[in-house]
Parts: sequence; C-alpha cells; structure tokens
Amino acid sequence: MNPLILAFETSCDETAVAVVRGAETLSNVLGSQVELHARFGGVVPEVAARAHVESIRSLTHQALNEAGIHPADLDGVAATAGPGLVGALLVGHSFAKATAWARQLPFVGIDHMEGHLMAPRLQFGDFEPPMVSLLASGGHSQIVHVDEWGEYQTLGSTIDDAAGEAFDKLARVMGLGFPGGPAIDRASDGGDPAAIVFPRALPDRPFDFSFSGLKTSVVTFIEKAQAAGELPSLADVAASVQEAIVDVLVAKTFNAVDETKAPVVGGGGGVLANRRLRHRFAEEADKRGVTLVIPDPILCTDNAAMIGVAAAHWLAAGRITDWTENVDPGLVLGQPLT
Ligand SMILES: Nc1ncnc2c1ncn2[C@@H]1O[C@H](COP(=O)(O)OP(=O)(O)O)[C@@H](O)[C@H]1O
Ligand SMILES: [Mg+2]
Repeated sequence: MNPLILAFETSCDETAVAVVRGAETLSNVLGSQVELHARFGGVVPEVAARAHVESIRSLTHQALNEAGIHPADLDGVAATAGPGLVGALLVGHSFAKATAWARQLPFVGIDHMEGHLMAPRLQFGDFEPPMVSLLASGGHSQIVHVDEWGEYQTLGSTIDDAAGEAFDKLARVMGLGFPGGPAIDRASDGGDPAAIVFPRALPDRPFDFSFSGLKTSVVTFIEKAQAAGELPSLADVAASVQEAIVDVLVAKTFNAVDETKAPVVGGGGGVLANRRLRHRFAEEADKRGVTLVIPDPILCTDNAAMIGVAAAHWLAAGRITDWTENVDPGLVLGQPLT
C-alpha cells in the first residue's frame, strides 16, 4: 500500500507543503521566510508563525495543483508535530488537522527529525535499515542508529550548539550574514581547508559533538590576525572553519558506522546540504564499501516531502494520530508524544 498523503512542515521558518505517494514525491513546494528573518540575524518565532498563516493556504493549492491531485483522492493528511517553535508548529498542525477532519481522512503527526531520517527514501528506493544516520540542522545534531524504521537509538549528540547553529554563529563572526551554513559553504570556494587548524572538540567521546568552543577560537584567531595585519583570505578562513565542523561530523558518524557495522550510512538536516560534508561522506563510505544515502540538498533542508514519506510509512503500518494529540515543541526522536 502506497498511501497518497498531503503533508505540512512548519516547525521553523519554511512553510512547506508536499504531496507524496508512498516514497514518490508528486509535489514539494516551499515558501521560504529567509528574507523576513535575515534583518534580525535569526528566526523570530512570532514573525515565523504569522508568515506561516499568510502563506499556507496558497501553498496548499500550489502543492495539490502541481501534483494534479484533488483532495478527494487523498488517503491521509500529515504535519510536523515537533520539535520546533510552538507557534510555528501550531499553524501547520492545526491546518492539517482541520483539512483531515473536514474530509474525514486520517491525520498523522510526525517527528521532524524522523522526517529528516526518512528523507533518503524519497530518492533512494532500494535500501533498508540497519543504518547509521547523521541528523544535523539548526536546532539538532545527533547520530542515530536505525535498527528498523521506528526503532531508533541515539548514539551521540551535541553537548552544546547544534552544527547548523555553529555555522550560523561563525558566519556572523565572519560578517557573512544569515543563514550562515550556505554563506560559509559559498565563501569557502577556492579556500584551503588546512590553512588554519581550529580545534576539534571531544576527541575521547566517539559519538558526541561540541561546537561552542570553536566560536571563541575563531574570534580569537581573527582578532589576533587582524591586529598583526596577517588576516588570511576569507576563503581560507571559511574553508578552515567549515573543515573543523565537517571533520568531527564525519569522524564521529563513521565511528558509529565502524562500531555498529551498519551497511548503510545516510543523513538529513540542513547541514547535510554542505558540499564539503557530502564530499567527505562519499569518500569515507566508498573506503568502507557502505551504501551512502544522502539525498539532494533540497531534501536535506526542511521540506514537507520528508514529512509525507514518514507519514505514508506510518499510515501503511496502521498508525493514526488521535485528534486530541497536540504539537510537542520538545519532541525527542524515538520517544512518544508527551
Ligand atoms: N550548505 C550548508 N552548509 C552548512 N550548513 C547549512 C547549509 N545549508 C543549510 N545549513 C544549515 O542548516 C540549518 C537549517 O537546517 P534545517 O534542517 O533546514 O532547519 P531546522 O534547523 O529549522 O530544522 C541552518 O543552521 C543552516 O545554516
Ligand atoms: Mg530541519
């Protein structure tokens, strides 16, 4: 059974609507709020929620039109239930529930991180767990072992900042604006990743990350180099900063691959859109002969198709969310809604 799902994702600053049939994407539309938040240097929760309200209806029409689907054809409606900003989550969740209720369709609430985890299914049809997945975004960084879909063990996570948050903070320090990940990715073009060696934290903890010290080290480096009139090129600084983050993400993910002997490695979340990270993952997977499933960047950053594929999986397995269930901004992967 490949259920036809209308899916919503509004956990942060993207209003995203998609139609999927099983793991096939029929439409995947996005209303990015990046410009709205850029002048504040970060996502403003109230602004995000209001912008979701303004665009969700027209994006829904667009998603249905592009998919060539009439709502009467749907088998279910899904939305992100958490984690995320409560006001932002409530817009998509309520809109989805109301749509499902009006059409008497099953509603499925989905964990945003499980969406990122299942996103590779939209692109690589023929793989199954066990797998190791790196989930790295603006709010979360964790290494997960997927025993089977629905059975998740978090092997390690960040003890302070998420990897995307580190990119965003470091880009600010370097005067590169928001969001920082794509800015550093671009600025690193032609730079030497070995130009400056920034610290790699927690060498003794195989699966955990720490990024808060990196900011101090980069700030100190820039101040000293500026005072001495020896500031390297922006490309060299960006490439070196990027390498410091990518290096630990790659090393620790592949520690998990080696430890668990997982035959498949993948990932999701905005940071997996990073070109250097993708290149390094491909090299390491190749060395070990493990299957690599990192989807295209558009499926790594927040989108609704990933919510749809997760919902299609759970609906086919008979899991329907009760009408009384609400959003959970602090939802933790693998744990039930509170
Ligand atoms: N090319 C990139 N390189 C590094 N980080 C990136 C890149 N593209 C996006 N990011 C980072 O990903 C994060 C957004 O992740 P995403 O999963 O889309 O959203 P959320 O954090 O709301 O779940 C941001 O911190 C952003 O800087
Ligand atoms: Mg995300």
